[in-house]
Amino acid sequence: MSERRFPDGFLWGAATATHQVEGGNVNDWSGWDETQAEGLAADAKNRLGHLPSWDYIQEEAQDPGNYVAGRAADHYHRYEADFDLLEELNLSALRVGIEWARIEPEPGVIDHRQLKHYRDVLESLHKRGITPLVTLHHFTNPQWFFDRDDWLAAEAPQRFADYAEVIARELGDLIPYWITINEPGSYVLMKYLGGDIWPAWPGARRNTKQALRAQKQMIKAHKLARARIKEHYPEAMTSMSHGVPVFEPRRRDPFSILAAKLVTFMGEERMMRALKGHEDFLSLHYYNRTWITSKFAPITQWYEHDDTGQQSDMGWGVYPQGIYEITQAAKKYNVPIIIAENGLPDGRDELREQFIHDHLYWLHRSIEDGADIRGYLHWSLLDNYEWSEGFWPKFGLAEVDRKTMKRRLRPSARAYGRIARANALTDAANDE
Ligand code: BGC
Repeated sequence: MSERRFPDGFLWGAATATHQVEGGNVNDWSGWDETQAEGLAADAKNRLGHLPSWDYIQEEAQDPGNYVAGRAADHYHRYEADFDLLEELNLSALRVGIEWARIEPEPGVIDHRQLKHYRDVLESLHKRGITPLVTLHHFTNPQWFFDRDDWLAAEAPQRFADYAEVIARELGDLIPYWITINEPGSYVLMKYLGGDIWPAWPGARRNTKQALRAQKQMIKAHKLARARIKEHYPEAMTSMSHGVPVFEPRRRDPFSILAAKLVTFMGEERMMRALKGHEDFLSLHYYNRTWITSKFAPITQWYEHDDTGQQSDMGWGVYPQGIYEITQAAKKYNVPIIIAENGLPDGRDELREQFIHDHLYWLHRSIEDGADIRGYLHWSLLDNYEWSEGFWPKFGLAEVDRKTMKRRLRPSARAYGRIARANALTDAANDE
């Protein structure tokens, strides 16, 4: 029997994001989701009917209630019980978020009750010996920030840095790892280039100039925020979170090869290069391989999910070797790497155990080949609100019954827990 042992102190964990699990948020998505719900439900068959999972997902996907975040997984009130799940799985890390709109509901007005809430959350993790990684911005904005031209406003980076400073001052003693902004590449694509993507995001439009400006603003925001955090805690580990699919040309024609290179560069690669020396670690997300075909059409239409081989409920193909490829490519940045998201929507829990195993196998190979990888956080701890697809995609290690809010660990979660406890992959399947 072969054994693939991970480095001592390797962080085994799961990830969450505020708006997807907390419930009761008031931000630029809340209210807006209600205006979209009927339309998204009515159009579900058109949009999703081709998926192999359609028979299984159709009931929820055609229910307007599926598209309204509402109470989400009520994690805001049930976080202690959720942390019990982590302990049950022997996990040593959790990615949690802080919801900017809760902390600063009006410009410059800080809600101290909410700060206390997040202090309680973080203290509870520390008491349990669980390392928190804290995201400051995960796609949602306070309504006032959105209304003031969100990331395009000249003051936007400063506004974000002021908020980061509040968190550093008030909660920084509890935060070893900071994720400033989640997947700026996805945000910019969906918001500033995704005017033709359906289902859309709030404020979606198609404007390349604005997309480039928003990227620049987010880079600036990260740098300013990092400086403020470091004033209080020089040893703080900071990163943006970078979503890095493997982009491959669908056909081997020179235009598509070039298009795949362009898309790779214009996404997170550009951000990572611009932030070289300004990130203390790299928070990377890996989900799948995406095919690129160059077309005389807007860039949003160049992307196609890999549908070869096994497909998850959203039709994404499974390509574990990609986690090796993206971590090897990130070695050049010479900072530690943490996989802060990797997972799949799989409500019947048919693929997840093997998916986790195979991704960890390739992650371990990458460590052997010199990548300094310090942790793996599975997306997600709980079934949650998957943005404009709502609740039908089930990414959770734990299933959530949205009526009773009861949690139930899926069998794959227990298998993952055994790997975490052993700090190793131990079965014969590790052999090639
Ligand atoms: C995002 C998550 C999302 C996940 C699955 C990532 O891009 O950060 O919020 O739920 O992908 O789609």
